[in-house]
Amino acid sequence: GLGLFDPARRNSRGYDLGEPGMPEALVAAIGAARRGDRVAAPIVGGAARAGAGEPVRNPATGAVVGQVIEADRAAVADAVAAARAAHGNWSLAGGAFRAERLERAADLLEEHDALFLGLAIDEAGKTLVDAIAEVREAVDFLRYYAGQARADFTYPVALPGPTGERNELMLEGKGVFVCISPWNFPLAIFLGQVAAALAAGNSVLAKPAEQTPLIAHAAVELLLEAGIPGDVLHYLPGRGETVGAALTGNPDIIGVAFTGSTEVARAINRGLALRDGPIATLIAETGGANAMIVDSTALPEQVARDAVASAFQSAGQRCSALRLLCVQEDVADTMIAMVAGAMAELNVGEPALLSTDVGPIIDDEAQAKIAAYVAEARAAGRVIAQAQRTDLPAGGHFVPPVVIRLDHVTDLKREIFGPVLHVATWKGGELDALIDAINASGYGLTLGVHTRIDGVAAHIAARAQVGNVYVNRNQIGAIVGSQPFGGRGLSGTGPKAGGPHYLHRFAEEKTISTDI
Ligand code: SER
Repeated sequence: GLGLFDPARRNSRGYDLGEPGMPEALVAAIGAARRGDRVAAPIVGGAARAGAGEPVRNPATGAVVGQVIEADRAAVADAVAAARAAHGNWSLAGGAFRAERLERAADLLEEHDALFLGLAIDEAGKTLVDAIAEVREAVDFLRYYAGQARADFTYPVALPGPTGERNELMLEGKGVFVCISPWNFPLAIFLGQVAAALAAGNSVLAKPAEQTPLIAHAAVELLLEAGIPGDVLHYLPGRGETVGAALTGNPDIIGVAFTGSTEVARAINRGLALRDGPIATLIAETGGANAMIVDSTALPEQVARDAVASAFQSAGQRCSALRLLCVQEDVADTMIAMVAGAMAELNVGEPALLSTDVGPIIDDEAQAKIAAYVAEARAAGRVIAQAQRTDLPAGGHFVPPVVIRLDHVTDLKREIFGPVLHVATWKGGELDALIDAINASGYGLTLGVHTRIDGVAAHIAARAQVGNVYVNRNQIGAIVGSQPFGGRGLSGTGPKAGGPHYLHRFAEEKTISTDI
């Protein structure tokens, strides 16, 4: 019952923007659903908490999209107490009961997708293409984990009874789970974590990223409308240092699902180790220094298309994004020129415009960091090409895509979370040294491979210490249920999101042996 080859499972259809009239129809629907007065107030026990609002801004324009109210200490304490009390019944209700509610939420999300598309664009700076993918992935997570809850959490599994006993293995929720999600997938990863924790029978304290509380608030309202009990799911927006620390330091929580930076994952892990209470589970999905290996048999046009998509779609703000293009020396000049040329054509601008390929950087702090890094590379004479655009909105945070040359693959020491692609070359006959150098970064999330030789692709896939290998295609946009996603080492703890083993990490096992 792992749902690995479930022929009945279907992913959300999304929208085909190539269909005549479709983009315009979507833009109109999004416009109709748009409101400027949203307030992301904490939701504890199904009720909104009052407090002083702070503005949430559109990263492309600086315009105020809504307000957020940070959860105070009382909200956190009340949520933890209610979640703790509610956990037992929620777990006992069984997988099928929980699945029904999550499936209802998936249906509601598809029905109200214009609202969520609009928030992904206005609050997170997503292009329409990215926003559609975001909503689809969120729907997929809800249905996928619901299906697994139904399959694995409804009835116990019968085990052999050679001693004349009846032996059964049950899966149950662990207790109160904290879900801390990132701004780069403010709906899909937020709902993915929350849906998994709920599906497995946990009660949930959900803390969205500071930059994207509004879309998460709308998602929690939708889950409550779908029948998730108010004492089982609580919404606690706020800063990591305050709300995040109060949640992960609480002795009554049993696990944390976190997606974000490796440093913050480490800090959470240290905090969990030092607090009282049970030994907590940490499920962390963190960064990457993702490479693409291109050998001299690769098709240049395909490399250009896939490298540009992998590095610059979502303005490079995906943990899966390509950071380091490694091209075999004898074809490097042509390949790198093609990639740089294709990049230079990208349209940087307001994501609300259909003509935009690359939207904004999430906030001014992130923008300043990336811009400083690019300036340093420029001063060192390493910038090969950068997309140009002079009429960007003044209130927004943008970094035009850029290609930076490195002398050696090991020169990339850390993740640069933006539209920055590094290129380096490697010599024929030194493929294993290249793979080992990539592995030596300690990250292990995605790896792209471009070669026309199947044996080379298989060799690289086997030797690389990464979670997701993509051959002769781009290396972003893992599909729930088909491409379980997540890395190892500095990139995360596993298990893979959208894969058959994810829910089990949120669960306890119980063996019942009965004399018969
Ligand atoms: N799940 C996303 C992707 O595959 C990652 O961040 O691109």
